[in-house]
Amino acid sequence: ALLDENSFLLIAHRGASAIAPEHTLASYQMAIDMDEDFIEIDLQMTKDGVLVAFHDDIVDRTTDGSGKVAEMDLADIKKLDAGSWFNAEKPDRAKDEYVGIQVPTLEEIFTAFGDSTNYYIETKQPDKSEGMEEDLLELLYQYGLLEESLPKGHVIIQSFSADSLKTIHELDDDIPLIQLTDNLEQEIPSPETFKLYREYAVGIGVSHKNADDAYIAAARRAGLLVHLFTVDRLAEGEKLKSWGANGIFTNDIEAVSSLK
Ligand code: G3P
Ligand code: MG
Repeated sequence: ALLDENSFLLIAHRGASAIAPEHTLASYQMAIDMDEDFIEIDLQMTKDGVLVAFHDDIVDRTTDGSGKVAEMDLADIKKLDAGSWFNAEKPDRAKDEYVGIQVPTLEEIFTAFGDSTNYYIETKQPDKSEGMEEDLLELLYQYGLLEESLPKGHVIIQSFSADSLKTIHELDDDIPLIQLTDNLEQEIPSPETFKLYREYAVGIGVSHKNADDAYIAAARRAGLLVHLFTVDRLAEGEKLKSWGANGIFTNDIEAVSSLK
């Protein structure tokens, strides 16, 4: 099952983002077609309170627009071309269908894919987005994605913000949560710290650059799953798997698919 301690998951980081424009219905569809375990969605809220899939704080890198997601209304975001940048950056992967492709709302993603895939949703900048957690849960219920009948773990919510995860845990303590950390200090948290995470989270999402076998072993001893981001080389994935990792976030599914 998805959250077994001996499971190893491949999580499509921003969708199949090595071969299609990140965080578009196209990159998610590509990931689903390539039998990824999860599509990873970075969630932000527009100025008029709509949840959209977008990574950066500003739209400049991955659209033809400029400015902050949080300071733009959905109508303005919907006018942006979120695919031509990709065609220019990766001509060998360019497709006409990406020209003018839009930034998707979370609702459009759920409408397009329903329970045909698993969702690994990151709340981004939740402290700047009033009611993000409540709105997210409301959409998950509305689209039938938290039905008891569905396998546990087919929706995972992750965040760098412990507060965001604790808010979700208070609203629904049945949703598996993952505490994200860059672990820049490159230290292994104490058992007490891991235990604090374990009060609301089932695991840790950590940068693979800052987590070694000792880190993974310590987290596993504390009863926490460990998923690492972002791994695009097979050798790195194999090493992490041999250290007991439970999964990786990857842009390049083709490169690491043999890890399944
Ligand atoms: O959610 C895991 C990973 O995506 C966190 O880093 O910056 O790619 O969202 P980032
Ligand atoms: Mg993310």
